[in-house]
Amino acid sequence: MNILAIETSCDDTCIAILKSEINGKNFEILSNIVSSQVKIHAKYGGVFPSLAKREHQKNLPIVLRKSLRAAKNPKIDAIAVTVGPGLEPCLWTGINFTKELAEKMNLPIIPVNHIEAHILVNFINRGSTSLKLKIFPAVCLVVSGGHTQLILMEGIGKYRILGETRDDAAGECFDKTARILGLGYPGGPIIAAKAAEFRILDIESGIKLPRPMLSTKDYDFSFSGLKTAVLYLVKNLKSEKKLTKKGVQEICFESQQSIIDVLIKKTMKAAKDFKAKTIILGGGVAANEELKRQLKQKIEKEIPRTKYLVPGTEYCTDNAVMTATAAFSHLIRKTKNWKKIIANANLRIDENV
Ligand code: KG4
Ligand code: ZN
Repeated sequence: MNILAIETSCDDTCIAILKSEINGKNFEILSNIVSSQVKIHAKYGGVFPSLAKREHQKNLPIVLRKSLRAAKNPKIDAIAVTVGPGLEPCLWTGINFTKELAEKMNLPIIPVNHIEAHILVNFINRGSTSLKLKIFPAVCLVVSGGHTQLILMEGIGKYRILGETRDDAAGECFDKTARILGLGYPGGPIIAAKAAEFRILDIESGIKLPRPMLSTKDYDFSFSGLKTAVLYLVKNLKSEKKLTKKGVQEICFESQQSIIDVLIKKTMKAAKDFKAKTIILGGGVAANEELKRQLKQKIEKEIPRTKYLVPGTEYCTDNAVMTATAAFSHLIRKTKNWKKIIANANLRIDENV
């Protein structure tokens, strides 16, 4: 069975075609096209929804052609589309394009939750083995530009949100910190690179930033205070003309470490409290090498029997392979009743799509 998947929840226009056995085993990626809008949004230091929508409209037909050609025009059996959460105008663009295509090709549509897709992409070509190995309950940390959530997963489709950010998402904090430092967008990879430059110096950071909610008993997060702390620090350093190249590297190192410390502490707490058999990472921030490395170290040290799943780097940030993977897990949702499919910008993983 071949699924063509469309993902436009934020600023990347993504179409992938995946082949799989009906039970979602043995995936084969026939094509995976991601058209990034980074250059367009860079000057705003973040995603500008109406611009993103216009770009999606422009890019979708081109990305579709590329994706079909790369997959050598296979027979398509269903179309999957992200219906939420995400930026509403962007979601609608993908949904409307999908509806037109489904009508033209007389195909069913499978609606997909974007957060679930960030989790399920971990099962690509690992699905059956992982399930046999009894990986549930799993604690999932989904960290992206729009979300920071800890989710208890009892099985595919069985989720409980344990905690989430009360303000900015972790990725948003990376992006805003980069903007304050004038480093460009998206902030995550740039901050990570500057932090690595400071790490090489092998000296202790003289800057101390807050670790918001590090020791609270819940599984919630808060990152807006961290961004504000960086803002004041940079303002002061600039007014004293003391913001050096090394100072910027040091701020990047310390703010990245602050985010990592809180993410790891809460994830480990949830894993221990719920006796998780697996810890699963997903979302754009999961591409962060330091986060992956430090979490792995902590698991090996404190709960070594716990399995640890992280997607390949190209499947951390938005892509449509993840959308297709989730669709294969929910073939039952396949519907020809297109009118019922709507965008839900605030869709939660414990709600029906
Ligand atoms: O999942 P994603 O592609 O889009 C959303 O669903 O939001 O995540 C994008 C976010 C951005 O905030 C970006 O700065 C962050 O992921 N990101 C990273 C890294 N690569 C991307 N954050 C930290 N380290 C990275 N290497
Ligand atoms: Zn995402």
